[in-house]
Formats: sequence, C-alpha cells, structure tokens
Amino acid sequence: MDRIAIHGGARLNGSIPISGAKNSALKLMAASILTDRPLRLTNMPRLADTKFLGRLLQALGVEVTESESGGEQETLFHAREITSTFAPYDLVRQMRASFNVLGPLLARTGHARVSLPGGCTIGARPVDLHLDALSRLGAAIQLEEGYVSAVAPDGLRGAEIEFPFVSVGATEHAMLAAVMARGTTVLRRAAMEPEIGDLARCLTAMGARIEGIDTDVLTIEGVTSLNGADWSVIPDRIEMGSFAVAAAMAGGEVRLTRARAELMTALTEKMVRAGVEVTPTEDGVIVRRDPAVRLRAVDVETEVYPGFATDLQAQFMTLMTLAEGESRIRETIFENRFMHAPELGRLGADIHVHAGEAVVRGVDHLIGAPVMATDLRASVSLVIAGLVAQGETIVDRVYHLDRGFERLEEKLTACGADIRRLKGDE
Ligand code: UD1
Repeated sequence: MDRIAIHGGARLNGSIPISGAKNSALKLMAASILTDRPLRLTNMPRLADTKFLGRLLQALGVEVTESESGGEQETLFHAREITSTFAPYDLVRQMRASFNVLGPLLARTGHARVSLPGGCTIGARPVDLHLDALSRLGAAIQLEEGYVSAVAPDGLRGAEIEFPFVSVGATEHAMLAAVMARGTTVLRRAAMEPEIGDLARCLTAMGARIEGIDTDVLTIEGVTSLNGADWSVIPDRIEMGSFAVAAAMAGGEVRLTRARAELMTALTEKMVRAGVEVTPTEDGVIVRRDPAVRLRAVDVETEVYPGFATDLQAQFMTLMTLAEGESRIRETIFENRFMHAPELGRLGADIHVHAGEAVVRGVDHLIGAPVMATDLRASVSLVIAGLVAQGETIVDRVYHLDRGFERLEEKLTACGADIRRLKGDE
C-alpha cells in the first residue's frame, strides 16, 4: 500500500492548475447512459473514482475512450447499446456515486438491478431519498439481498418531489431520471451545489429541458431522447480549497489557476478572517500568507452550498490547529466526520470532539509522525498538516487520497514542498 512522506517546513510558492471536479465528472459520466450518442467530457480528472465508474460503465456496455491532446484530458463515453442493466456489488461498493447509474438505466431501458452502496466511514449515508424519488417517478422498487431491483415497463413519468432535506446525490439522481420521464417533474428543496448546475447544463446541451438551474426548485420537462454533447467538467472547488488551505498553512504565495474563485466564497471569507490574503483572478485565486504573522482562530459550521462545504471541514480544522485562540468547528452534514481529529492529535494538535463539534485550541507548532488517512478529505488534511509539521510525517492509506486528488505530490512539489510517494513496501 502506498504512503506519502512529507518533510515539513518549506514555504509554498508557485502556481497550481486545478483539475476538473470529481463530484461533477462522476455524475456527467452517469449521464452518458441516457443517450446512444457519444458524450465527450473534457477537463476530465484522472482519479481512482473516475476509473472505478468507467469500469462499471464498460460492464454496462458503454465504450470508454480516454485521450489527451495539448495537455487537455478528455474521455469519450458512448453508450451505443446498453448490454447489461446489472451493477454488481463489487463495482458499486468501492464508490457510492456508482449507485447513480440506477436512474439513467431505468430511464433508458425501463429496468435495472444495482447493488446498494453499503456503509461508509463518514456516516450511515443511506439512499432512501434516491429511492423515494425514483418511485415517485413511477419506478417499482424492490430491495433484496443487498440489491435494488427497479422496473418501469411503461417508462418513467414526471412527478412533484419535495425532498425532506437537502441531498446532493438524491437531487442529481432524480434529475438524471426525470430528464427522460413523460411530463413535468418539479424537484423542491433541491441541492444547489455547483456540480449539480454543471450536470444540469450538460444535460441541457444534450437536449434536456431544465429550468431553475442553480436554484432549489428544478422544473424538468421530460424529452423522449437525448443527444450526445461536448462538455468541459467544471473546476474542482474542493481541490482549489484544499490547495488554498495548504498555501495558507505553509505560508508563501500560490496562484491557483484553471479555477473559479466564486465557487469557494464561504471558505475565502473564513480564511480572510483568519488572516490569509485571498485575491480572485480571472482564472482562479492567489493565496498569500506571511508566515511571520500568526493565524487567528475562526469558527466554522458546515452547511449545504453556498455555505461552508463539509468536504473542506478537515482541511480548515488543520489550518486552525496553528491559529491563535480557540476555534469551534461544527459538522452538520455527516454524523461521523471527525476521524482526522485524533490523527491531527498525533501531530500535536489540541482538538476535543463532542456532539458534532470540534473545539480546536491553536498550538505553536506540529511535530511530524506516522498518521493514517481515514477518508478522502481527511487524507488531504493530514498532508496539509505534514507540510508544516517539524520533521517527517508519513501518511498511510493514501488510496483514499488517490480517489479524489490528481497528481497531488507533483502539484505540491512544483511549489517547493518536500513530499514524495513511498511505493508499496518502500
Ligand atoms: C455528495 C458529495 C460529497 C459531499 C456531499 C455533501 C459526490 C460524489 N459526493 O455526497 O463529496 O460531502 O455531497 O456535500 O458528489 N442522506 C440520506 N438519505 C439519502 C441521501 C442522503 O439520509 O438518500 C443523508 C446523508 O447520509 C448525509 C446527508 O444526507 O448525512 C447529505 O448527503 P448527500 O448530500 O446526499 O451527499 P452525497 O451525495 O452522498
């Protein structure tokens, strides 16, 4: 199993290109099932998660062709014919987003059997909202032996769906099915994450009729068929936020390019209050911090978009470990998303977790140690901590990191970090 070794202390100076968003790419890939025409996705991140889903799509009959020209990564998805509507446990359990093939399969073929995604370390993460939405759209659903079997022999039909609370995955899943349902679907209390807007715009480019994009009410007029499209995946705001925190933590000046500053306003606001300079540019942001000046403690509460992203909570907590004063960090989206706190504690951070809230008291410095990544975003927070910890930090289980960060070591090394990957038993 690969590990990452970091020698802390180097300032970060330079430029980092931001990749396409994992959370958008995965749903755009699922959209390829809806049409027998090719869907060409550019700005495609090459990640373990996109590879997993690519494999599942291939098992369903979708041709997947990766290419690169002029430094631009693209993948062509062509679901000429769906040869299987069965998504087995082995291909779904590795990644929850694979479950989102259910709706498009139903819309395209009228039936599907997809494994339940199973548990996840950051909380229970059920799919009840997804299933409710699909049955409101006319699917007959049965759960048996860990699988969802769904049929809609006469096709899906539009419905009024009000989600009981905001869910990113359920909003996207309902949209992926409703675009080809008969009649009108209204999704209320829809999630408004930018990746949902990206999916809605791509579907529109494919011929779908969606109103209310980027709002919490989506009105979808079903169409009988969709076309292919060429679509560029939106920049990854979580990757951008993670590097912004890394730059703030290490000190120095880093320019994040191929990004969109307005997608991380909630984080920027908190960083500025903590004493970091964040300057939006035409294609991203410049993050600057004078390492001689201590950071200030700031409280944070995770919320649905446009609030502070739960996917940036671990990184921000890491930043607060060195801030002057006490910072309270509340997690409201997932019930068990503080597993990085004890790992940060191994590096000398002072963090107490109680009832969905972490209290972080800033310390003078962190000291390198072996730590273990527990989930995707927690793993990057440990790398960020390693950038400033004295001596060497070794992050184990970096396969979590590889799920969602493209060429992380390379991007940080280019800015002066002392970080390398230890292969296997090295
Ligand atoms: C997506 C993102 C993830 C991010 C999260 C919240 C992807 C691939 N993942 O995850 O990175 O952290 O949004 O911004 O895009 N819930 C239910 N029943 C359901 C669905 C969700 O109870 O049917 C609960 C979840 O357990 C969680 C909350 O709702 O507590 C929010 O989850 P949701 O917004 O659905 O997150 P995901 O789509 O799984």
